[in-house]
Amino acid sequence: MDKKITIAIDGFSSTGKSTLAKQIAAHMGYVYVDSGAMYRAVTLYAMENGLVSPDHLDREALIRNLPDVKLEFRFNPELGFGEMFLNGINVEKKIRTLEVSNLVSRVAEVSEVRAKLVEQQQHMGENKGVVMDGRDIGTVVFPNAELKVFMVASAETRAQRRFDELTQKGEEVTYDAVLENVQKRDHIDSNRDDSPLIQAIDAIAIDNSHLSKEEQFELVLGLVKEAAQL
Ligand code: DC
Repeated sequence: MDKKITIAIDGFSSTGKSTLAKQIAAHMGYVYVDSGAMYRAVTLYAMENGLVSPDHLDREALIRNLPDVKLEFRFNPELGFGEMFLNGINVEKKIRTLEVSNLVSRVAEVSEVRAKLVEQQQHMGENKGVVMDGRDIGTVVFPNAELKVFMVASAETRAQRRFDELTQKGEEVTYDAVLENVQKRDHIDSNRDDSPLIQAIDAIAIDNSHLSKEEQFELVLGLVKEAAQL
């Protein structure tokens, strides 16, 4: 029988982690988990309950209310991956807006939020055969993952990709606003006290600024096969 492994894909925002993770999961028959979606869903909860806004975060109330935040991925066979449900409601679209992107790093700084989500993530990966993308997967969630990939690309390349994605979905945004969001999140994610975004010592860095999706997939698939000794 094939040996199932755990694959951690970390990196800066909009480096194409989720595209790659989904490709690998589909190819290997593994489960894909988008850990960022969980931080985004908690942020949406905080927004809807008036706990966070651009100049305010009610940490105490958020921490108090955490037991009421139920997160769940429900597999959508048409998409081939799980969609994010917050307290029983599909929030997959709502969590991808620039409004959520602008607040999520602040919510992700709260240690109590991280502890809750990390526990749930570790539970989802218990049986291996999982590809999880995020910021702290190789360092905190699965420090023993058989394969750790750390994705990098220039801020401008990433902003252009995110801008194209958002405008294709019909969101009215400017490239400058997206670039600013990408740079701000890089800064907050890399400098927070709890689980900052850093490359795990045993992670393999991939700069995909000049790689096509196919080239990147082939490269990482080779690493997966090596790690799984297939
Ligand atoms: O991957 P993403 O851009 O959807 O993630 C949204 C935010 O969530 C990101 O700016 C930081 C936070 N995050 C985190 O702190 N740890 C993770 N494992 C995943 C995301």
